[in-house]
Amino acid sequence: MSASPLAGKRIVLGVTGGIAAYKAIEVSRRLVDAGAHVVPIMTEAAHHFVGTTTLSALASEPVQTELWHNATSPIPHTFVGQGADLIIVAPATAKSIAAYRMGYSHDLLQNTLIATRAPVIVCPAMHTEMWEHPSVVDNIAVLRSRGVHIVEPESGRLAGGDEGAGRLASPESIVAAAERVLGPADLAGVSVVVSAGGTREPIDAVRVIANRSSGKQGYAVAAEAAARGASVTLVTTVSLPTPQGCRIVPVETAAQMQAAMEQAAATHDVVVMAAAVADFRPAQVAEGKLKKRDGAPKIILEPTPDILAGLGSNKRVGQVLVGFAAETDDLVANAQSKLDKKHLDLIVANDVSAPGVGFAHDTNAVTLLRPDAEPVEIDLASKRDIARVVIDAIIALRDAR
Ligand code: PMT
Repeated sequence: MSASPLAGKRIVLGVTGGIAAYKAIEVSRRLVDAGAHVVPIMTEAAHHFVGTTTLSALASEPVQTELWHNATSPIPHTFVGQGADLIIVAPATAKSIAAYRMGYSHDLLQNTLIATRAPVIVCPAMHTEMWEHPSVVDNIAVLRSRGVHIVEPESGRLAGGDEGAGRLASPESIVAAAERVLGPADLAGVSVVVSAGGTREPIDAVRVIANRSSGKQGYAVAAEAAARGASVTLVTTVSLPTPQGCRIVPVETAAQMQAAMEQAAATHDVVVMAAAVADFRPAQVAEGKLKKRDGAPKIILEPTPDILAGLGSNKRVGQVLVGFAAETDDLVANAQSKLDKKHLDLIVANDVSAPGVGFAHDTNAVTLLRPDAEPVEIDLASKRDIARVVIDAIIALRDAR
């Protein structure tokens, strides 16, 4: 299985003095989990918001702050930046952004930022008024023009109870940005649409027939495709955090998902159906709420459209069509039959009765089937690792054409 593009990379994590500094600890943990060596730097001001003990413990080495009398190196101002594969500043305050724009190297972090040839990701976090102030807007524009990657803040609750734009991007988004910067851009220029989650078919105004899909596997495929440079549309029934760089199309029913997927498939190069689509829906939807006092209702079901089969019949030349198969027995035989019947290029089969596999878990184990190749089994791994293998297989299919 291919490793995360962060594995073995030396990443400097600069933490400046903002209330969001506590989130840098989660960013550090995720980078280390992905196999990176994290070198933490905190500014003086950051010490007002978080202590060094936790960050030192969760990074790969102790926190550094000092430009002078630094125990790690006699010349930390160049040593740290020269050895980095990537520098992330999260959170980045208005002051640290201004200093970086000016090359004002008054502390270890600012020295590191200008004594490096590594790519830099800046993750601003501040109050809305500050984020929208012309000086900050101008500083960000200048940094962007120099090739600095900016992970824009989100809108939401800010310190002091304020609401608005300026909240530090989520740790997932920051790590995804790092993967995008360090990973291979082997899907650059390619458009990918992914479906995720389980459809919900209404019985009446308040009740639905649903399934146990959490959307995690589909979101992981979308995030991996985006991290590798694709332009990604995610048709989804759930609202997990939006993977960086993906366009969301929210849907609920099989009919809505069919409409969204057919529209997207007309323009996208790669189509991945990871969603669990209901096979049956109530033939009639009751108006209002069915009353308990009227007794148990008789619900007549009718088949839903097979979205994937329809996409297979109308596949465009050169398009890659990928399905998933959720099985509880005869995994390979059942998945093989879906691969053939739905005219797929690849099917990702999971035995959803196995421990840790399929619906709602953070992990999955799959067998990849292609029309012209032997099945490939992938043992239990995180859904993101499974997504990486699926994207590798899609790229191999495109390269073979
Ligand atoms: O969302 P998670 O909690 O992370 O769980 C992941 C998952 C188990 C949902 C995922 O790994 C998975 O297996 N997705 C496919 C689920 C499914 O519906 O499998 P199926 O074997 O019933 O269908 C085969 C394929 O046809 C699927 O690609 C499905 O999207 C598609 N289909 C099915 C029925 C239908 N009416 N229209 C379809 O397009």
